[in-house]
Amino acid sequence: MNNKTDTEEDVDPTRRRVLAATGGMGLTTALSGYLSLESMREKETSEQVEKLVEDMSLAEKIGQMTQISAGEVGDDPTSFLETYQPGSLMYATTDDPSQLAEDVNELLDTAIATQAHDIPPVFGIDAVHGNNNLDGATIFPHNNGLGATWSEEYARRTAEHTASTLRATGYPWTFSPVADIQRDPRWGRFWEGFSEDPYLCAQMVAEKVRGYETSDSGHKCAGATLKHFAGYSEPRNGNDRTPALIPYRTFRNIHLPPFHAGISAGAETVMVNSGSVNGVPAHASEELLEDVLRDRLGFEGMVVSDWHDFYRMVEVHEFVTDVKDAVRLGINAGIDMYMVPAAGLETDSVTTFQQHLRELVEAGAVPTERIDDAVSNILAFKETLGLFDDPYADPETAAEVVGGARDLAYDSAADSMTLLQNDGTLPFDPDVDTVLVTGPSGDSVANMMGGWTLGWQGVGETLPPAITPLEGIREAVSDSTTVVHEPTGIDEFENEDAVHEAASDADAVVAVLGEGPYAEEHGDTDTLALPAAQQRLVRTLADAGTPYAGVFFAGRPRGNDVFDRLPAAVMGYLPGTEGGSAVADVVFGELNPGGRLPFTWPTGTGQLLNVHNAYPTPIFGSGEEPPSSSQEPLFPFGHGLSYTEFEYDDVSIAPATVPQNAASDQFTVSVKVRNTGDRPGDHVVPVFAERRHGAIPSPMREVIGYDRVSLDSGESTRVRIKASIAPLATVPGDMFSQEELQVLPGEYRITMGDAESDQILTIK
Ligand code: BGC
Repeated sequence: MNNKTDTEEDVDPTRRRVLAATGGMGLTTALSGYLSLESMREKETSEQVEKLVEDMSLAEKIGQMTQISAGEVGDDPTSFLETYQPGSLMYATTDDPSQLAEDVNELLDTAIATQAHDIPPVFGIDAVHGNNNLDGATIFPHNNGLGATWSEEYARRTAEHTASTLRATGYPWTFSPVADIQRDPRWGRFWEGFSEDPYLCAQMVAEKVRGYETSDSGHKCAGATLKHFAGYSEPRNGNDRTPALIPYRTFRNIHLPPFHAGISAGAETVMVNSGSVNGVPAHASEELLEDVLRDRLGFEGMVVSDWHDFYRMVEVHEFVTDVKDAVRLGINAGIDMYMVPAAGLETDSVTTFQQHLRELVEAGAVPTERIDDAVSNILAFKETLGLFDDPYADPETAAEVVGGARDLAYDSAADSMTLLQNDGTLPFDPDVDTVLVTGPSGDSVANMMGGWTLGWQGVGETLPPAITPLEGIREAVSDSTTVVHEPTGIDEFENEDAVHEAASDADAVVAVLGEGPYAEEHGDTDTLALPAAQQRLVRTLADAGTPYAGVFFAGRPRGNDVFDRLPAAVMGYLPGTEGGSAVADVVFGELNPGGRLPFTWPTGTGQLLNVHNAYPTPIFGSGEEPPSSSQEPLFPFGHGLSYTEFEYDDVSIAPATVPQNAASDQFTVSVKVRNTGDRPGDHVVPVFAERRHGAIPSPMREVIGYDRVSLDSGESTRVRIKASIAPLATVPGDMFSQEELQVLPGEYRITMGDAESDQILTIK
């Protein structure tokens, strides 16, 4: 990076800074995600941590830098823990919350007794949508659904609940939230992101961090992990952990803001991207982990690797020839803790890692200052969590705590529901005689949960608490209504005749379509079409002639081939425990859907990348006839219908001119919104900004603010949104410039939600 601000002499490897400017909520954090932070203050390492680092042996320090799976500890914990002294244990030993709490307490006792300075290990786990590894845990919507609510309070409140369950079970560290921006729906981890828009994503990330790291008896309840730093979500061929090629301007404007917002919100840890960016594995990049993460974004917490990524540097990226060299590069680049969880990898086990690192330190290839820096970061993290005072779980309350917050699970799922199209078919009358529920996901707990739920690839034998659409619909309809269920498969449709007959006999049909659960590379796809079996199911329903609607449970925009045959369609994302109740309430009109797509829904993979914040792109070319290929999406970013109508009036902006040197100052955009239909409903008002024509073109549109209001039939309100133009800050200069972000002078067109008129903001 050619514009590094600190000189080598200025960099004190043990410093920990906090971001004084970001104590406030929302907007402050969002802005800091775009503009450089000047007001950072130094935070000294505590005396306790300093003293420990001074006293500890090299073996103890290397132990702290090691993270192993708790399942590896085996039958002789004393000998294992004494030998390796791991700083962290990951993954649960059981899915029973009370048993887990007991196991943790036992392991803690043994670990502390075998550690010369009584340092407890920190237990970490992927609790990404609730404490999703535990039997009985309430499961919230995955991030793609939370993004669709446009209410970041759900990110905070669901994380707060999760934090209390983590603490009760002795795992005060979650590898969440994902701050990767949504770019390419072929990628198997698309649904783990909140949005394709950096501002919306940044808001959600910051609030999820605040929720996990809520204060609890003087310490943070749980530690958050911003992952995967950075550029992970845009692999060039759409496949997980394959090379990403990202221009600096896009990296800075699009990929970094959510991380920056999470750091400003206080995130204690960052996990590194397993992929390579522009040919360099993220785990080997000092430029990324020091210049960008520490110096540019001001991160002062602990950096953890992803799963066996030193090994990947050899076996996947072919960047070095042996794992020892990868350890040298990774630790020197700034990785504090190595996730080396599984035994069985001969060239990358806990034994080889610790041996490599010891030899590298002894040979002077890894400086002891770097080791001390890493260990201070790890111990400071434990201190912030209060683990030196009380690391223990609470077996008495664990089970009850994990099963709480059901109302929140319903509200967040309900507010995510997004009505994609509707010719008036929905809502159905709850008094109809017969309803047919069909499709692969009408009664499937697995499909409404997605991956990372009681299993990496989704649920196995243990099921989380869940109301499926079938169960929800039985509750939602009148006592006299008959509900018939004809399930079909994700990829098979063998009961075509039975479905046709049941549909013909019914008065309303709900087909719950979409994807089964998946995670990481297992979810990569090269099509956004639904499997042929589901396409055939929709044709069968069309043929039966009964009113029908499609509901989608999916991790991405999928099903572009069936929309022309669906009279009505609802995107349900991966809604978790209360998903079926939310779906039933939408379909039968108890709930008026108010979600909006947090991503663009392309017509197919041929259009990719298709995002609303692309650079200016011709939609129809310049000739009279549209070319055969265009970027017109199936549903644009922010799309979402309602059962009622909203009218806009009297849009205004004040002030309408802002000096460039105060470009992050707020202005107010306001609009009168009236619910002119005959039902109450929620309405999200996104504020978009765009700057056309200029030496540096800007992305076509970006969100700079939003609000969600509830209005009764006939009610109106003035929606006032404070926003700044900071999200449109860009990297000035020529093609390969790496200059600091700047808001460029000029005219910015500001639009609000569905309002047709626009406002001009002038930056001069
Ligand atoms: C994933 C991470 C996850 C880690 C631990 C990795 O494969 O990339 O997101 O936190 O495993 O489960």
